[in-house]
Amino acid sequence: MKEITALDFIHSPFSLIGNEWMLISAKQGNRTNSMTASWGGLGVMWNKNVVYTVIRDSRFTKQLIDHTDTFSISFFDHEEYQKMYQYMGAVSGRDEDKISKSGLSLLYDGETPYFGEAEYTMFCRKLCCSPIRPESFAVESIGPSFYGDKDYHNLYIGEILKIMSK
Ligand SMILES: Cc1cc2nc3c(=O)[nH]c(=O)nc-3n(C[C@H](O)[C@H](O)[C@H](O)COP(=O)(O)O)c2cc1C
Repeated sequence: MKEITALDFIHSPFSLIGNEWMLISAKQGNRTNSMTASWGGLGVMWNKNVVYTVIRDSRFTKQLIDHTDTFSISFFDHEEYQKMYQYMGAVSGRDEDKISKSGLSLLYDGETPYFGEAEYTMFCRKLCCSPIRPESFAVESIGPSFYGDKDYHNLYIGEILKIMSK
């Protein structure tokens, strides 16, 4: 693995996140967990290169990220790891040790979990968590379309501290 700069990261976030997906991983105490995400973004905020992730209230990963300072975003080869992404996106870490069952090689950079098999890993420092709630929707249909169950998203903005490429 080698470190690359954000400017050298030339992939489109639309296809990378939207079509090929990513894992969000965090560790709190002795629990490490990952979940699949296909909504979010990469950009610039407060003069820093950042990732935007949106995590619903119900996710176990939210519980972990809320209590940690760092998390990672991992991008895997979608074709090879599609089944893993689906598993990580269908089962909760509350119910199963998903990482052990996935067979992925779990590594740590300090307290931040990541995986040997990922094509790219972004190590992030949590800068901000902001709940996304109906009061702020400018388009009314967003509520009924996406939150019939009131399981709202929370926006996490993470400063990209380091990008590793396989
Ligand atoms: C392709 C795909 C994309 C997903 N994107 C998101 C997302 O952006 N935000 C979110 O909260 N959940 C998303 N999910 C659902 C979570 O990954 C899923 O609920 C997972 O089981 C949560 O795991 P956890 O409870 O261990 O955190 C997605 C699932 C899949 C399959």
